[in-house]
Amino acid sequence: MSEKYHIVTYGCQMNVHESEKIAGILCAMGYEETRRIEEADIIVFNTCCIRENAENHAFGNIGALKKLKKQKPSLLVVVGGCMTQEKGKTEVLKQKFPFIDIMFGTLNLERLEALIKQKKKERKRVVEIREEAGEIFEDVTPFRTSYPNAWVNIMYGCNNFCSYCIVPYVRGRERSRKPENIIREVQNLVKEGYKEITLLGQNVNSYGSDGTTGMTFSELLDAVASIEGDFRLRFMTSHPKDFNEDVVKVMQKHRKICRLVHLPVQSGSNTVLQAMNRRYTREKYLDEIKMLRSYFPEAEVTTDIIVGFPGETEEDYLQTESLVKEVEFASAFTFVYSKRQGTKASTMDAQIPEDVQKDRIMRLVELVNAFTRKKSEKYMGKTVEILCEDYDSKKNLYFGRDEFGRMGYFISEKNVIGKFVQLKVTKVNGISLFGELEKVKE
Ligand code: SAH
Ligand code: SF4
Ligand code: F3S
Repeated sequence: MSEKYHIVTYGCQMNVHESEKIAGILCAMGYEETRRIEEADIIVFNTCCIRENAENHAFGNIGALKKLKKQKPSLLVVVGGCMTQEKGKTEVLKQKFPFIDIMFGTLNLERLEALIKQKKKERKRVVEIREEAGEIFEDVTPFRTSYPNAWVNIMYGCNNFCSYCIVPYVRGRERSRKPENIIREVQNLVKEGYKEITLLGQNVNSYGSDGTTGMTFSELLDAVASIEGDFRLRFMTSHPKDFNEDVVKVMQKHRKICRLVHLPVQSGSNTVLQAMNRRYTREKYLDEIKMLRSYFPEAEVTTDIIVGFPGETEEDYLQTESLVKEVEFASAFTFVYSKRQGTKASTMDAQIPEDVQKDRIMRLVELVNAFTRKKSEKYMGKTVEILCEDYDSKKNLYFGRDEFGRMGYFISEKNVIGKFVQLKVTKVNGISLFGELEKVKE
């Protein structure tokens, strides 16, 4: 019987996809997946350190393994991801959890197999973290469990050093994948029947700016969208300092590209944006939205917002509220600023008290949700195209998303997972739509 693996993932889409690569490595070594952690022979924690609560979450879950490891000493406990790349964190992990067998980082994923083999030979704990990124690791086939969606990295790392953010410290400098590797991967995915491809990078608009690809992001997007087949194309994340009309023109050329842009604004106040080192103004941001909607009036925008950044006054916060009202985001991820060791903002005076942060986040969430609900109501009675992603056996309903990321639920006699379906919306509930199946695209 083959040995079993279990992966616990924290953090962003990038990490979710990295876990698919980790799974790919483990499958190639002969391991099989198990959803039950108690059954596993190897457990991998793919960690995140973007905010303190992400770290606490991982600390809690790793700590909870102590008992299992005692009962089953042959169990391999592996910790990877962004936390291990954080300065001093591997030491903390080592001390807190002496039962960890292997630690690796985001910059040496290609070493995982060798590290596992090494650990199986030695009793000693194996720790290998690289400080700087090497060649891009192409020699891995991700084990995807996200059908009909697939994520494809176009680049790694980040050069932007937004003053609050730890990503550039734990993911290294920006590296772009070669266009031919990206295109080949997407071609294969489409051939295999994947229906939604999302191109991933911390700042996709600066694709190729390391001068190694001979292509800009809009050119790459054009090339990927030109691949034949019936699929949707998304990209994430755009940085407002680099988002531009060339990209929107490519969106206009290809109906495959979803008219939804994730454009994190972070704050509506120019003073805060400057202190965050975001390198755009509120006005530039609003101009970009205007430009996008001049091409597609129906275009939707989602965003990320941080409240309680050091020095943020009530006035600054209200500027964020007013920007939210002006743009009418389809949805927004809202965060309370979390101090990250080693970042510029962590040394700034005027850190905001917790009660003020809490008050602001509560007001903001309410405002953002009001727009999301208002947008939902517009769907009533309309027909939308949903890509069916899965079946919810508890609710007895199939579900999937429309072009703008709205979740739609419906009844179907046939299994329609992986198909585009037309849904007539008969009920709206907060952010979800319910509808009657009108047509299935074969
Ligand atoms: N590269 C993307 C996203 C990076 S992380 C971008 O530039 O937009 C996702 C989100 O986490 C960020 O957009 C930001 O809103 C949030 N974030 C990052 N660091 C944070 C911190 N220290 N505290 C709170 N939120 C943070
Ligand atoms: Fe962090 Fe800014 Fe880079 Fe995004 S662009 S990952 S927020 S430093
Ligand atoms: Fe992502 Fe968290 Fe790392 S948000 S890049 S997994 S710090």
